[in-house]
Amino acid sequence: MNKNDKFYCKKKEVTPLIQQYNNIKTKYPDTILLFQVGDFYEIFGKDAIQCSKILNIVLTKRSHIHLAGFPYHSLNTYLPKLIRSGLRVAICDQLEEPKKGKNIVKRGVTELVTPGIAINENILETKSNNFLASIHLGIKNLGLSFLDISTGEFFVTEDTKNNVLQYLKLFNPSEILFQRKEKKFVDQFLRKKYYTFLMEDWIFDYGLAYEKLTSHFKTNSLKGFGINDLKLGIISSGVILSYLHNTHHFNIKHISNIRRIKKEEHMWIDNFTFQNLEIFHSLNKEGVPLINIMDQTITPMGGRLLKNWILFPLINIFHIKKRHQIVQKLYSNHILRDFIKKKLKDIHDIERMISKMVIGKISPREIYTLHKSLISISEIKKFFLSQDSQILTDIANSFQDCKMISDKIVNTIQENPPHQIEKGKGNVIIKGFSKELDEIRMLYFSQKEYLEKLRKIEQLNTGINNLKIGYNNIFGYFFEVKASKKYKVPSHWIQKQTLANSGRYITEELKNYELKILNAEQKILSLEKKIFNDLINQILEKIKHLQKNAKEIAKLDVLYSFSNLALENNYVKPEINHSLKIHIIKGRHPVIERQFISKISYIPNDIILNKSDQQIMIITGPNMSGKSAILRQTAIIILMAHIGSFVPAKYAEIGLIDKIFSRVGASDNISLGESTFMVEMNETASILNNISKRSFLILDEIGRGTSTYDGISIAKSIVEFLHENSLRPMTLFATHYHELNEMSTIFKRIKNYHVSAKQIDDDIIFMRKLMVGGSEHSFGIHVAKISGMPIKIINRAEEILRN
Ligand SMILES: Nc1ncnc2c1ncn2[C@@H]1O[C@H](COP(=O)(O)OP(=O)(O)OP(=O)(O)O)[C@@H](O)[C@H]1O
Ligand SMILES: [Mg+2]
Repeated sequence: MNKNDKFYCKKKEVTPLIQQYNNIKTKYPDTILLFQVGDFYEIFGKDAIQCSKILNIVLTKRSHIHLAGFPYHSLNTYLPKLIRSGLRVAICDQLEEPKKGKNIVKRGVTELVTPGIAINENILETKSNNFLASIHLGIKNLGLSFLDISTGEFFVTEDTKNNVLQYLKLFNPSEILFQRKEKKFVDQFLRKKYYTFLMEDWIFDYGLAYEKLTSHFKTNSLKGFGINDLKLGIISSGVILSYLHNTHHFNIKHISNIRRIKKEEHMWIDNFTFQNLEIFHSLNKEGVPLINIMDQTITPMGGRLLKNWILFPLINIFHIKKRHQIVQKLYSNHILRDFIKKKLKDIHDIERMISKMVIGKISPREIYTLHKSLISISEIKKFFLSQDSQILTDIANSFQDCKMISDKIVNTIQENPPHQIEKGKGNVIIKGFSKELDEIRMLYFSQKEYLEKLRKIEQLNTGINNLKIGYNNIFGYFFEVKASKKYKVPSHWIQKQTLANSGRYITEELKNYELKILNAEQKILSLEKKIFNDLINQILEKIKHLQKNAKEIAKLDVLYSFSNLALENNYVKPEINHSLKIHIIKGRHPVIERQFISKISYIPNDIILNKSDQQIMIITGPNMSGKSAILRQTAIIILMAHIGSFVPAKYAEIGLIDKIFSRVGASDNISLGESTFMVEMNETASILNNISKRSFLILDEIGRGTSTYDGISIAKSIVEFLHENSLRPMTLFATHYHELNEMSTIFKRIKNYHVSAKQIDDDIIFMRKLMVGGSEHSFGIHVAKISGMPIKIINRAEEILRN
């Protein structure tokens, strides 16, 4: 904060409150400071001006200082808006109860919320992770770490610059930490696309990072995590822990593991390919991405895991087959499916609940939903074990026994508890849990009865008829005795007041009782809080069990989702093996086929590729005939098969694929300031340098971004390169350059195909069937005609074509 940010007030005029504010604000420059004052969060100075605009709240002035604010309990409504507008927010709370006579309450920052470290569900998307990333540049490679503090998932890897940039695109972090001295790199590659945050150079230290990680995980080394050799990755991971510390996130027990991302353990699909295949986002506004079709998961954990599985498809046949087997089991048993569906509906976001428990921000109501979730899991387990099926027994056995936790919850908290203990009117903890609590409650809730009982006893003891008990603010509870009965008042009663017709007295018992009552409410609250926190701590002892169950439920949810998807859309179980061929019969595009009302409207097609006689298929055909659809559906079927899903086809045999590349000619990238053709060539070059024996490529009109002759030449030389390459990558190449059909006469593994269309008089009917042989026409003018182009232009185009 520079001097001007402080409030301009003459020293004498600065109130102690503002002085305290200034002191704290100095420590948190570049953050919005929310300052608790009683039941409000107040925001001062420049912060107030900025927040009033973003939050649409009133901006006022108090003794020359700008001021805005909102109620303390509305934090969950306002905080997300600030974070989403890319601000960092420090929450400064009152750290003690205001006391009479003391003019300033102790305050301190209790949490610093940034885009990358959010736990609040109003900031987070249920079915997406929220990653904080950290990068550390080495000489050759970079260390890269990702943490989702809301789920405790922590990943690390080391890779080349290009691959790190790819990973960043896949994980799409909300915030990236980097070293001050790498500002140039960040400005060049990251600044425009991500929210970045600069960290001081000295934090990027191997020794410091190693120490941070081992002391966090309570281990002697990092060998157990398989990351001991990742020097750069250890630094980037350590930096994340330092950052959590700096932002007051000390309770991070739920980060119980760090996983190494191993490139060789999953299929490599780059971001261009994800985009071209429209997996997570559609290329146009009205379009539907694949994820929308595929995601039938019920729990948030399942939704997040599905995304993760798509980003990292398996390349281990054993594991892929295992998933297919489970899907098959669920697919063929509707009783089982219905049961799972019903139970999954009762399972809440256990992963995020854990993180909220750890930081102490979980509500009684949420804890109760944890109980329900655990009951559901145990019912699934029981049911699976009763099914006499090895597959289901294996799943059942992967669930950890959490009965103790669910029993504890139900034996501690009453049903349907409130969001806040304060709102439970002292009834959050069930009766019978704590004798002390019950006694206080009895006392508190039975004031009337107690006083009546006491009155009767004293009336009997003293013989004073019409003895009354009253209350006033000056001396609390008192006995009231008619003047005529004064002589009966025992000597140990203390007279407090004499009125015309009566006298008021107190007794030791009455006083003690009164004290008890006055403290009771406060005590009930603090006892309930204590019992609740004890419960949380006991649950947290089983954190790993809970995390394991959450992951197993997520898996089951995704596989359940696959089985539903397969049934609804008539998918088939693919056969994955170690062969080097692809054999798809009647394949369909899972998204396009859903756009038709009738299920049979989509024309299926066969694709056969191998390394011996059909390595490259050149696909020609008119505009709009369905070339791109065939290319994409083949890539999508391969992808789906590798994540464990069934596929839209009648039959599919797929030899394991370890990389899928998809490139489209002349995709516009003007926003990045690069020429379209340059981008096209860049993207293509990056494939050609990375192909493997098990790569699958779809190239859609590569070369079209330049003049026809240059384009044809480039297209031809790329196809030739792929054919002659000893790795023989299987390729589908769609093009309007009919000249490419000549290649099949020279190169033995290149085959020509075309997507059929019939010309009847002036009309073209798209048959959409893939047939052997090249095609001669593109019917581009016809497509222009049906698109509504002025007839004059169409006629002239036909004339030019004829000549
Ligand atoms: N097999 C099919 N069955 C039914 N409709 C299809 C099929 N394939 C494609 N379509 C429809 O045709 C439209 C155009 O298909 P696609 O984009 O694949 O054509 P294309 O041959 O690549 O055209 P262009 O040469 O202009 O790129 C699709 O959006 C879809 O609506
Ligand atoms: Mg096309």
